[in-house]
Amino acid sequence: MGAEKTLIFGATSAIAQQTARLLAARGAELFLVGRSADKLGAIAADLKVRGAAQVFARTADLDRASEHDAILDEAARRLGRIERVLIAHGVLGEQSAAERDFTQVERIFHTNCASTLSLLTRVAQRMSEQGSGTIAVITSVAADRGRPSNYVYGASKAAVSVFLQGLRARLHRRGVRVLELKPGPVDTPMTAHMEKSWAFSRPEVIAAGIVRAFDGRRDVVYLPWFWRWIMWGIRAMPDRIFNRLTL
Ligand SMILES: NC(=O)c1ccc[n+]([C@@H]2O[C@H](COP(=O)([O-])OP(=O)(O)OC[C@H]3O[C@@H](n4cnc5c(N)ncnc54)[C@H](OP(=O)(O)O)[C@@H]3O)[C@@H](O)[C@H]2O)c1
Repeated sequence: MGAEKTLIFGATSAIAQQTARLLAARGAELFLVGRSADKLGAIAADLKVRGAAQVFARTADLDRASEHDAILDEAARRLGRIERVLIAHGVLGEQSAAERDFTQVERIFHTNCASTLSLLTRVAQRMSEQGSGTIAVITSVAADRGRPSNYVYGASKAAVSVFLQGLRARLHRRGVRVLELKPGPVDTPMTAHMEKSWAFSRPEVIAAGIVRAFDGRRDVVYLPWFWRWIMWGIRAMPDRIFNRLTL
């Protein structure tokens, strides 16, 4: 991947931070976007020590789509050109609250879906004109089938998945790659309140998979790999069995 110029949205996320560390070790030029200036400053300093050729940072609440063009303008100006984009920000939300209160559903959809689609629309236009680039988005295995415990979150990611399918087919003739990263459960601040089991991976493991996915040829990558087969089984399960499980 070398000194590739990478723009990371949600750069303070545990998974994004670990990914950025691996890119930094390869001498990448990075532009970080996150909503906490303090966290971004500390992460940028760490990445420079780890070998990043350049690290730029910009504070932004990504829920504000009206700021997205200005962020992309600044990133393009600082990096020269944007070769790779990683969209990593997201919220899990509270499923039980969302079952009673539609404003919670809207909030989850706004951050996970609407803000991501806004970024994708704008990045796609720029990369299409540029005639090259890779757009990567972290969705989730939760997008593959709606489960009682997190179907609002899952639906917000599933909408992004379908958008990515169409975008990939549209941009493939323009030399732009669209990559979807689908982690299983990961031990990060997002899941800090959950009891951990065998199903949880460390963010370092997911980050290594993300870097391999950037280097590889697959467009939809489950992380770790075995989730491809678990989700194949879960998708294939008849409703009469699935509905009886407490998932
Ligand atoms: N952890 C899992 O089990 C898991 C599984 C599958 C997929 N994922 C996905 O992986 C991605 C990274 O999550 P993570 O596990 O690394 O969790 P995390 O450490 O909690 O990261 C979530 C990040 O999203 C940022 N964010 C949320 N809303 C934002 C907004 N409006 N503007 C800017 N940034 C915003 C947060 O910023 P602050 O630092 O300011 O709070 C935080 O950095 C997410 O898309 C998540 O849905 C996670």
